[in-house]
This record gives sequence, structure tokens and C-alpha cells, in this order.
Amino acid sequence: MTEPFYITTPIYYVNARPHLGHAYTTIVADVVSRFARMRKQETFFLTGTDEHGDKVVKAAKKENLSPREYVDKISGLFRSLWPELNIEYSAFIRTTDPAHMAVVEEVLQKIYDNDDIYFSEYEGMYCFGCERFYTEKELVDGKCPDHKTKPEIIKESNYFFRMSKYQDWLIDYIHKNPEFIRPERYKNEVLAFLREPLEDLCISRPKSRLKWGITLPFDENFVTYVWFDALLNYVSALGYPNGKLFSKFWPHVQHIVAKDILKPHGIYWPTMLKAAGIPLYHHLNVHGYWNVDHSKMSKSLGNVIEPIQMKNIYGLDTFRFFLMRDMVFGLDADFSEDAMVQRINSDLANDLGNLFSRVIAMVHKYFKGVVPDVDPAIEQELELGLQEKALSAVTEFEVNMESFAFHKALLAVWEFISQMNKYIDLTAPWMLAKQKSTRKQLEAVIYNLLEGLRIVSGLIWPVMPEKTRSMQKHLGLDPENKFYTLDLLRRWDVIKPGTVLPKGITLFPRIDTKKLMESRVNETEPERSDPGIKADITIEDLMKIDLRIATVLKAERIPRAKKLLKLEVDLGEKRTIVAGIAETYDPEELEGKQVIVVANLKPAKIMGIVSNGMLLAAVENGKCSVATSDQPMAPGTALQ
Ligand code: MSP
Repeated sequence: MTEPFYITTPIYYVNARPHLGHAYTTIVADVVSRFARMRKQETFFLTGTDEHGDKVVKAAKKENLSPREYVDKISGLFRSLWPELNIEYSAFIRTTDPAHMAVVEEVLQKIYDNDDIYFSEYEGMYCFGCERFYTEKELVDGKCPDHKTKPEIIKESNYFFRMSKYQDWLIDYIHKNPEFIRPERYKNEVLAFLREPLEDLCISRPKSRLKWGITLPFDENFVTYVWFDALLNYVSALGYPNGKLFSKFWPHVQHIVAKDILKPHGIYWPTMLKAAGIPLYHHLNVHGYWNVDHSKMSKSLGNVIEPIQMKNIYGLDTFRFFLMRDMVFGLDADFSEDAMVQRINSDLANDLGNLFSRVIAMVHKYFKGVVPDVDPAIEQELELGLQEKALSAVTEFEVNMESFAFHKALLAVWEFISQMNKYIDLTAPWMLAKQKSTRKQLEAVIYNLLEGLRIVSGLIWPVMPEKTRSMQKHLGLDPENKFYTLDLLRRWDVIKPGTVLPKGITLFPRIDTKKLMESRVNETEPERSDPGIKADITIEDLMKIDLRIATVLKAERIPRAKKLLKLEVDLGEKRTIVAGIAETYDPEELEGKQVIVVANLKPAKIMGIVSNGMLLAAVENGKCSVATSDQPMAPGTALQ
């Protein structure tokens, strides 16, 4: 019986919209959880949002929303992004979930009762951006290394967690478990931190300064420090302490984070677990940053990469492939669309795409599309060992996936693809097809190539699940039957002779950089064929508008506003929208109707009601017609 598998992403702050960095970590988690499913492990994959703290209160104020309205909104953006990237998570946790809050209180109380939390006065340098105190040593030129601002000296009484007590124990644990934090460079970084005396961790904030947090169970004048709250999501999501999920999955947990949050995960978290009497995690897997033009992505530099935009231009699976193939897990990487196009054209369109169409075309040319049978004697006579090569590719893939060396795992698959291309050159099926006497060899060669492609289709599943489906359909396999499990990928007799294969497809269309450039130039210099229609927005402008299908749950008139209706809609989350359609529609007419909503419009207060989005409608002489969907669609579905 294989062991269960539990993988987590960081829970993302809700003070920024999701970007490439968040997408990368979450795609990695999806890839490893799919890999675990290839091994038939029972899998739990957790992601979510981190919603308490100062930053959230500030961001909400900026948008004129209450913290609650604000966190609902941004958390909803994360939640609706993941299915668009084909992320199959098991649970989405929010630190504002009452069940999570109860667990935080319970753990705090437990550690407090064990005397590992104490009350004390502290004066220190506090960075409001990071929401933490800094020591002199940690500052660069007297400034916070992240925010480049001078921290403020504040003096206050707070609660502290006796983290220092666990310093020696943690050093010893890391030495005894060298794979606890990986890759090795990050283990070394944590050990370097631990060479300095570890200070106790301030785990509270006075309510006079911050209210948006979890009240300490032993002092109602304080809320919990965001990191102490956030880290506990990994256990609260499983129903700690008594949940069935907790007992099943916790012993097998692996976390994924980037290097920015190494310290909380490499030091705070293990010591918190130890103090709470909870077994430690199995591995902390740490990756580097995606940079753009060699600098960190940031709003102010205007170099933030939007994952949905990449998906729309290049295709989802190809985008996922690029991220997994081009970043060495653990090191920084530079994101560029040029590099992505090159990778797609060479590895996907040329190597795999061409091989696939070539083989399917040969099945049609030589066998009328019917999978041939193989004579085992001929197989031995040929002795080209394609099956052994496939087996070693599967093994190498497995070893590298297990250690998060995704680029190497994919390299092993592409090495096998190149061996298959060589196999075609060596066996020259077009020559074998010329004579009747070599018919049996031809059958064996083609069958082997089909089996080789089946193995490839299974190995790419964690990274490119949709391409696996297309390949397997064209290999005559029903993709519903999970033809990606490793036990099936170690066999060589799965495709049934006699199966009729559909005609070939272009699996990976080549990206024509010239055309792409031209289409972008045309976007900035639009041709105006119809002088009546003003056309001056670019595709980038259009992409900024988030249009969603929404179902009207409730509609009501607004007193003293003849034209307005207040609508409660479901667009994957509940929203209130004020729409000027009351002169055409009665409220009852709208309930249950599907409408199209601009979901990312800045909220506006209309007649005292905060409208969170805009409904699309055509208006003619004061009469309107709301835009709707031709077919019933799931609420929250994006229009593209
Ligand atoms: N809320 C905390 C995490 C609490 S976990 C108990 C937090 N949130 S965050 O929104 O800032 O997310 C940080 C994480 O986002 C990184 O650790 C990484 O997983 C991902 N990334 C954000 N920017 C990134 C890059 N430029 N490159 C790669 N990943 C990045 O920290």
C-alpha cells in the first residue's frame, strides 16, 4: 500500500493580485500532486489565502472597503484563477475561516499553558511593511532590506514565544535530517541563521494598533501576529487535532515556498510545531524567484507577468511546461516571452509534436489507421531496445520528480523522445514498407513507436494534462482510464492491436514570432476598416477587463432611485451590484437569470450601496437589454 501524500503552497497575501510568482508555486504543487497520483498515492493538496494583519487593513482602506469585503474580493480572485490554470487543489483555506481561527486559539492556549509563551515589554525597530521587528544586524544601511524604509522605534508590551529555547534542538534536528530543508543551499542558509543567537518571537499585536486578527485566547487586548496565525493553516485545514484528514495526511506533509519566506518556514514553524507537540513536516521545498529583465517583478516597475495573459497568448499547457522546464528548482530564473517561444518551438512543436504526427501518419499510410500486431520473434530480431530506453526514462523521471528536479525529469522524457526519433531513422519504416518480406518488421517498429508515445503521453501528464488527453485520444486510449499511472508506464503492451486511430492532429502549433510581433504591432496601430466604430484599445487593455458570467440570486428596487436595481449575484462568490436597468426589468424577471459582469471594476458607492462590479447591457432610447449567455454556464466562468 502506497503512502498518502500531502502538499501545500504558501497561503498568499490578499494585498496583491495573483501574478506569475504565485502561479509558479501553485503549478509546482499541482505537478507534484499529480505525480503522487501517478504513483497511486492518496493525495491532499492545500492552497489558500492569508487574510489578517496591518497590510490588509491598509489595502482595504485604499479601496474604500471594509477588511471583510476586501478579503472576500481578493481571495475570490485567487480562487477563481486556479481552475483556469488547471490546478486541481483539494482544499482552499482562508485564515478568516472560523475553523482555522479556533485551531489558532487552541494551539496558542496549549503553548501558553506549557509556559512557552510569556508577557514582556519590548522596545525595538519595527517595519510596518513587514509587520515585524528587526535587529540592527538585519538592517541594510539602517533600512529594512525589503521595503528600503527606516524602521520606527516602538516600545510596547507583548506576548513572546520562547523560540530561543528550541535553537539547539533545531540545529541538531536539521543535521540529523539533511533532507528536511531542500535544496541544500537553503538548509545551509537556515543553519547560518541559527549560528546567531535566536531571539524569542513576538507573537502578539496590541488591539490599540491592530484589530484585524485573531484575539489571543488568554488576553483579549491583543491579536495574534500574522505569521503565528498563518503557519497554522497547514494543520487547521486538516482538522487538527482530531480530524481524520489530519491523522492520515499530516505525517506525510511537504511544503513548497520561495526563498522570501524561508525563515518563517525553516525556523518559526518547526519550533512552533515542537512546542505544540505536533510532529514536524517531512520536507520544506524552497525555490528561487522568477525575475523579469533581471529584476524582481513589481507593480512600480510595471513588469508584473499576468498568468492568464500568458495562457491566452501561448496556451496553458505550453506555459506550464515552460515554467517547469526552464526554472531549476531552487535557483532564480529570468522570465522572457522570447525564451518561452523558443522552448515551445523546439521542444514541443519540433521534437514531440513532429514525432507524434509522423508516427500517426505512418499508421494511416501503412495500416489504414489500424494498430498493427507484433510478432515477439521479430521484436527480438530487431533488438533496438526501445522498451528498455522507455523504462530507464520512466525511472529517471521518477527519481528527479521525487527530488523536485523537474527540469531533469523533463529532460529525461525529451532524451527518450530524441531516441524515438533516432529509432525511426535507424529502422527506416518507409524502406520496410517497400517489400512484403519486411512487413512484420514494419508492424513491430510502428507498434513500438506507438507504445513509446503512450509512455511519453503519460510522463507529461503532471505538467501538461490536456496534451496527455489529446495524445491518448489519438492513440486510441480512453483518457478517463488514467493511462498515466507509473505501473502502466512500465508496461509495453497497453495499446491494443486492431484499434482504429483517429487521423493526426497538430499537438503543438509552431509559434510564428514574426506573426506574433505583427499582430502586436497591429494592436497598437489598428486598421480602421469601419469608420463608425472607434477602435483604439489594445489586446492588453482588453485583457485587463475581467468579464464573468454571474447568476442573479436576488434583485430589488432601491427606494428613491427610479432607474436602479440592487442585485445580489453569484460569480463564484457573492457580490452586490447596482445596475441602472429598473425602467426595463422588474426585479422578479431577473432572479435566476445569467448576466455578464465586469468583475474587476473599482467598487463605487451608489445611493449608499457599494456596487462591486458592473452589469453589461445594451441601451437604446432608454430601454435596455442585459447581455447574457447563450448556454447555462457555471457562475464565475470567465469570458475570453
Ligand atoms: N502570506 C505569506 C505566506 C504565509 S504561508 C503560511 C506570503 N504571501 S505572499 O503572497 O507574499 O506569497 C509569497 C510566495 O509567493 C512566495 O513564497 C512564492 O511562493 C510566491 N512568489 C511570489 N513572488 C514570486 C516570484 N517572483 N517568483 C517565484 N515565486 C514567488 O508570503
